[in-house]
Amino acid sequence: MNNFEYKNPTKIIFGKESIAKLSKEVPKDAKVLLLYGGGSIKKNGVYEQVKKALAKHEVLEMGGIPPNPEYEVLLKAVELVKSENITFLLAVGGGSVIDGTKFISAAALYEGESAWDMVSSQKPAMQGMPFGSVLTLPATGSEMNAGAVITRKETQEKLALMGPGLFPVFSILDPEVIKSIPQKQIANGLADAFTHVLEQYITYPVDAKLQDRFAEGIMQTLVETAPAILKDGTDYTAAANFMWSCTMALNGLISQGVPSDWAIHMMGHELTAMYGIDHARTLAIICRSHYTYNIEDKKDKLAQLAERVWNVQTGSTEEKAKAAIDHIELFFHSLGIPTKLSEYTDSYEGTAERIAERFNQRGWKGIGERGAITPEGVKEIVKMSY
Ligand code: NZQ
Ligand code: ZN
Repeated sequence: MNNFEYKNPTKIIFGKESIAKLSKEVPKDAKVLLLYGGGSIKKNGVYEQVKKALAKHEVLEMGGIPPNPEYEVLLKAVELVKSENITFLLAVGGGSVIDGTKFISAAALYEGESAWDMVSSQKPAMQGMPFGSVLTLPATGSEMNAGAVITRKETQEKLALMGPGLFPVFSILDPEVIKSIPQKQIANGLADAFTHVLEQYITYPVDAKLQDRFAEGIMQTLVETAPAILKDGTDYTAAANFMWSCTMALNGLISQGVPSDWAIHMMGHELTAMYGIDHARTLAIICRSHYTYNIEDKKDKLAQLAERVWNVQTGSTEEKAKAAIDHIELFFHSLGIPTKLSEYTDSYEGTAERIAERFNQRGWKGIGERGAITPEGVKEIVKMSY
C-alpha cells in the first residue's frame, strides 16, 4: 500500500425527510444564494422543501445552470455573488449544479484577471466561499469531493478544477428525490459511479486489500441494485443503496494508498465537449477499448474484478481479464447504454486525431496510472471506440 494523507471535511446528512434539516446547517445570519438547474426541482417538490426549510433565512436564487455547467452562465452568478454580498451558496441539483457552485465559490474569491485561468492552469483551488448541497441525482460524488468539471462552449473545452477549497460544508442526501429522475439519468448515474470505481481500481496491484474490497463492494452493490432502481425509482431500499454507492465511489476513500487511472474520464470529457454526449455515456464508449489496449498493464486487476464481482473462476489471468471487459460492457448494455461512438454521432471520423492533438497542445504527454499512455496511444484507443 502506498503512503497517503486523507481528510474529508464534508458532513453528510442522509435519509428520508432530511431536506428539512437545512435550517440548522445553513448559518442563521448568512445571505444565501440558492443555485439550481433547468427547473426539475420546481416539478418534484424539492424546491418547496428547500424554501420551507430556509423560511427564516435571507435567500436569493439563480436557476439555469445547464448540464455540463457552462462557464459563461456561471460568471453571471459570480457577479451576483459580488454585487449582492452573498455569504453562503446552496447548490440544489445533480453534479452539474454542484460543480457549477464549486466554480462560483472559488471564482468569487479569485483575484486573477480571468476566472478561466483558474481552470486552464490546472492549479489546485485552495480557497472557496462556504457552500452546501442538496443532491437530487446520484452519480458524480461531487456532493462529497473537491472536484468540479467546467465546460466552455466557446472553445469546446471541458476541464476539471480541483483543490481542498472545493469541499461542500455539508450535503443532504434524501433518496426520495430519486422518484422523479428519468430512467436515462438513473442509467447514467449507475454507469458514472461504476466507472469511478474502475478508474481507481483497474490499475496495478499494490496489496491494498481493504481498498480493493471497498471498491469491489461498491461495484457489486451497483450491479445488484441496478435492475431494482431502473424498474422502480420509488423503491426506497434500492434508492438508498444506489445513492450511497455513488457517493462512496468518488469521495476519496477508495483511492487512498492506491494508484488511480482517470484516462477514461480524460478522453470521455473530450467527447462531451465535441459532441455533447452525456458524461456517463462517453465513459461507456471508451471503456472497452481502453482496457483492451492496456490489457498487459491492467490484466491482474481486471482478472481480480472478474473473479470477485462476476465469479469467473476458470481460465488464465488473460482470459479472466477479457471476461471482465465483456462483463463491464454487458453491464452498460443492461442499463440501455450504447458503447460505440458511431451509435451517438455520424461524424466520428477524425475524432481520435483531434483528441490526440488537444492532449499534445495541453502538454499531456502521458496519462493513466503509469503516465504511459501517450497522445498516440489516446488516438488508438479512441479509434477503437468508433
Ligand atoms: O437541470 P435540472 O432541471 O435539475 O435537470 C437535471 C438535468 O437535466 C436532471 N435532474 C437532476 N435531478 C433530478 C433531475 N430530473 C428529475 N428529477 C431529479 N431529482 O438530470 C439532468 C442531468 O443532471 P446533471 O447534474 O448534469 O447530471 P450529473 O449528476 O450526472 O452531472 C454530470 C456533470 O458532472 C460532471 C460531469 O462531467 C458533468 O458535467 N462530473 C463531476 C464529477 C465531480 N465533481 O467529481 C466527476 C464526474 O466524473 C463528472 O465528470
Ligand atoms: Zn464520471
